[in-house]
Amino acid sequence: MSTINILYGTESGNAELVADDVAETLNTAGVKAEVVAMDLYDVSELSEAGTVVVITSTYGEGELPETTAPFQEALLAERPDLSGLRFAAFGLGDSTYETYNNGIAVVSSDLIGLGARQIGETGRHDAASGESLTDVAVVWAAKVLDAL
Ligand SMILES: Cc1cc2nc3c(=O)[nH]c(=O)nc-3n(C[C@H](O)[C@H](O)[C@H](O)COP(=O)(O)O)c2cc1C
Repeated sequence: MSTINILYGTESGNAELVADDVAETLNTAGVKAEVVAMDLYDVSELSEAGTVVVITSTYGEGELPETTAPFQEALLAERPDLSGLRFAAFGLGDSTYETYNNGIAVVSSDLIGLGARQIGETGRHDAASGESLTDVAVVWAAKVLDAL
């Protein structure tokens, strides 16, 4: 399997921490994974990427954070054929908002709309739960490994 890109979009850095934890779990299991900021990723590469992991938080009132927004804009403008893409999805949010984890739902639905297939269940971290980001991320990453 080629290297799996772990694409993260964030406002204040938590999604990058999750991306690092997921990468470590995958790499330790012998699956090559690399963390890439979503806003620095060229969406035209998605068609040939094979499998990616997408991680984003939610900001404002259910909006995409600063570095996820340009990724989504490019995706919707370029509309690459993603029929060959598999993706795993993880969201960061806070359940005290009505728009809990809307960001990952939006990005997942955009990817599926372009033909991509989701593997496994969407992982979610709830800032209101008090659970550690790393604990939730590592448990979810182990399930991703099973789904690969
Ligand atoms: C101003 C503000 C607005 C937020 N809006 C939402 C929201 O609408 N829905 C949600 O689920 N979480 C919301 N959150 C929670 C963040 O998504 C959560 O704190 C997350 O861990 C931030 O991750 P990041 O540092 O990667 O951006 C909000 C947080 C802040 C500070």
